[in-house]
Parts: sequence; C-alpha cells; structure tokens
Amino acid sequence: MDKYVEKLENCVEYVRTVTDFVPSVAIVLGSGLNNYADQVEKVCEISYRDIPGFPVSTAPGHDGRFIFGWIRKVPVVVMKGRIHYYEGYEISDVVLPVRLMRCLGAGVLLLTNAAGGVNKDFHVGNFMVIRDQITCFVPSPLRDGDWSAYGSVFPDMSDVYDSELAGKILAAAGRAGYVLQQGVYLQASGPAFETKAEIRAFRTMGADAVGMSTAVEATAAHQMGMRVCGLSCITNMACGVTDRPITGAEVNETAERVAADFTALVSLITEAVGK
Ligand code: HPA
Repeated sequence: MDKYVEKLENCVEYVRTVTDFVPSVAIVLGSGLNNYADQVEKVCEISYRDIPGFPVSTAPGHDGRFIFGWIRKVPVVVMKGRIHYYEGYEISDVVLPVRLMRCLGAGVLLLTNAAGGVNKDFHVGNFMVIRDQITCFVPSPLRDGDWSAYGSVFPDMSDVYDSELAGKILAAAGRAGYVLQQGVYLQASGPAFETKAEIRAFRTMGADAVGMSTAVEATAAHQMGMRVCGLSCITNMACGVTDRPITGAEVNETAERVAADFTALVSLITEAVGK
C-alpha cells in the first residue's frame, strides 16, 4: 500500500478505537481563534500526540486536539491547533488532519484563518468569505501519495470553495445582520510576513487577503470530495498598506477583539452548511 495512504489509515484506525462519532462538518480554527472550541457540546476529544504518526503542532496558541461534538444539532469535529507548513512539516503532514476528518465521515470542511488585508477596501476586523484561492511558493499537497482511491488525480479546481455553500453562508450572515466581505485568499509560505513588493504583486495577481494556511487544506479536501468553505478574519492590513510594521501581537489582539462575532458567525455558518 502507498505509505501516505497507510499512514492515514493508521490514524483513522486509532481514532476509531477511541470514538465511533461521525461528524458531518469539520472545522479548522485559525490563529487566535482557537477558543471557539469551547462552543462545542463536547462528546470526546483526542490529542494529536496520541495519534500514531500524527504531526504535533508547535505554534503558540495551537494546542493540538480534535474536539468531537455538537454545534446547534450539527455533528462536528473541530481542529483546535492547526499544522502549518512554516513549522517545517512535509506538505503531506500539513493536510493529514483534513484527510483524517474526511475519512471519519465529514462531508463539509469549514476553514477559518487570520489573514492580512490585501484589498485596500477591507478594514481590520472584517470577515471575508473565501471564494477562490491562490497558492504561492507552497507545494501541492497532492504531489506525495497515491490519492486515486479518494478522487481524481487531476481534480478540477473551478469551484474549490463551494459556491452554493458560500451563498448559504452569505444569506445566513445577512439574516443575522452581518455584512461579510468576499474574496480571494492567497497562501504564502511564511513564517515571515510578506514584503511590500510581494503584497503589491499579490494584489496584481488578484488576492484580497493573505495568510499562511488554508489553501493546501482546501485542495486536499476538494480532491477527496469534500465541500469546502472558508472564513478569513482580517486581523491586520497586509505589509505596505499602512506604514506600521505587522506583528503577531496585532494579529492576536484583533482576533481577541472580534472573538464574539467570530463565535456567532462560525456557529451560524455551521448550522447553515450542516443542514
Ligand atoms: N500575512 C500572512 N499571514 C497573516 C497575516 C499577514 O499579514 N495576518 C495574519 N496572518
């Protein structure tokens, strides 16, 4: 058997010794947004370090566990602690958690992240529904392993962020009084924030927001047939949009400041896409 597929199957086998819970929506929490996990009516949790061969997150604020349970009657698995490419992992390990959640039964993936605003019409504290993506200087998560049993080897990418789900999200958010931005998310490799020249280039390429995650996870999930949706929290304006340097502290401060809105949005999105 392909060694990457075998690794995935070993992870699935371990989780099934702990819980038979079948999630329908998988949720990945972004930087500074991990406290959302407290919203889950928890059935069970599994620490990444207990899963054989599983990558263990080292980034501050990413404490590394799957939370299984319910949000507004929707069965979910929440990834509290993301695996980032900039931490030095193989790209196949960065997307292993998403593949695992797919194998546990999740048909929908909600990716969240903290991002820099590239679009000058955006404001710090805005939320953006991701409609498309660009990957830049990051390898494809499909290059290692034989994923042909899970979907096409050359997947079509014209609707990675499921437009029907995006429509449901915008409608549900609108009913609750939220005005959301929409746009293209660009994944850069990090861990350095981007340069001014890179941000100018990314804007010309069509990016509205920039971050260090999400696109590779969306690609792997899409290849495996998941319906993907994404929500970016614009925690800062990207390099060069203002004169101020970007800091991790600013990212976390904004994430903390908008935590109540983020919580409300993720719950209403989960309900909207989980139906
Ligand atoms: N760039 C990359 N990643 C980020 C940013 C940014 O400006 N803000 C939050 N995550």
